[in-house]
Amino acid sequence: MRHVVTGGCGFIGSHLVDRLVDLGHEVIVLDDLSTGKKAYLNPAAALVQGSVTDAGLVASATEGADSIFHTAAWARVPRSIEDPVGTHDVNVNGTLNVLQAARENGVRRVIYSSSSSVYGSQPTHVMREGMTPAPKSPYALQKLIGEQYADMFARLFNMQVVSLRYFNVYGPRQADEGAYVLVIPRFIKLRDQGKPLTLYGDGSQTHGYTHVSDVVSANVSAMEAELPSGENTVLNVGPNEETSINEIAAMIGGEVEYVFPNPRAMYEERRKSADNSKAKTLIGWEPRIPISEGIRGIAGGPARAAPQGARQS
Ligand SMILES: NC(=O)c1ccc[n+]([C@@H]2O[C@H](COP(=O)([O-])OP(=O)(O)OC[C@H]3O[C@@H](n4cnc5c(N)ncnc54)[C@H](O)[C@@H]3O)[C@@H](O)[C@H]2O)c1
Repeated sequence: MRHVVTGGCGFIGSHLVDRLVDLGHEVIVLDDLSTGKKAYLNPAAALVQGSVTDAGLVASATEGADSIFHTAAWARVPRSIEDPVGTHDVNVNGTLNVLQAARENGVRRVIYSSSSSVYGSQPTHVMREGMTPAPKSPYALQKLIGEQYADMFARLFNMQVVSLRYFNVYGPRQADEGAYVLVIPRFIKLRDQGKPLTLYGDGSQTHGYTHVSDVVSANVSAMEAELPSGENTVLNVGPNEETSINEIAAMIGGEVEYVFPNPRAMYEERRKSADNSKAKTLIGWEPRIPISEGIRGIAGGPARAAPQGARQS
């Protein structure tokens, strides 16, 4: 089958492209290389270099596609707080362009990379898809608007759309530089530089962390499973286990330093994990890689498991 992966040179997208190629599919990547890297592009995939904000380009790149995996986004909360307008353009208008192109080209299914951040504050720490979203940042709101457009397109045009709400994804090729680095690559880099790991707050916050290969499996299962037309199927893609920032620091190793007040307290939940039973029921997915094993794979011993920028499968 022929699939388009937007953002296929990025962290999650490039692993997904590798898996699709391994499964024997034809893959076209649409990426503007703003955070993605050509070095991550699978040589068997074709690259269309450009932006999802270019509606004409999205339409032409997706002609004849069986599925679109829409992973392209500006995927950082702090960046969206600094630049709500620019991130809206990519995250919302880009998603709308993808849905419109899927409609025009009769694409069988769109698999949209959404985020657990759409939940915001909830009465319990275990997130369920039926909860009313309460986004706390422009990024989270933009991801939610993408889901809502997906739902509207599915209903209006009898399309098949799946929105996967990822919970803190980590793994090889995750960016470890720049102002918006996520916790696991940030800690590994600090440790490797012999610097203390800086923990925001007291480190007792607990969240669900998902290995990128589990996220890839969820995408593939969401593409293959029998799912209804005419609705957006929303699924949590994350573990029902929680891990504290202190535990992650201990798994990576090195000195720690606490930063008070927590600069992320405004938009970060203290506790958050996934009820993933819906994904198990509908697409037969559940996470396979425990965080201790996943972190060992990338943080290993004193040096990183692979040179930075190297392709790994
Ligand atoms: N990493 C996580 O923990 C996480 C959690 C929840 C949701 N997500 C979602 O997963 C998706 C992938 O995230 P990631 O962590 O791999 O991010 P990433 O930044 O590594 O990858 C994003 C890719 O999209 C490309 N891109 C950005 N803007 C584009 C544009 N206008 N047109 C075309 N390509 C563009 C980038 O060049 C990059 O290759 C995003 O939609 C993100 O919102 C990620």
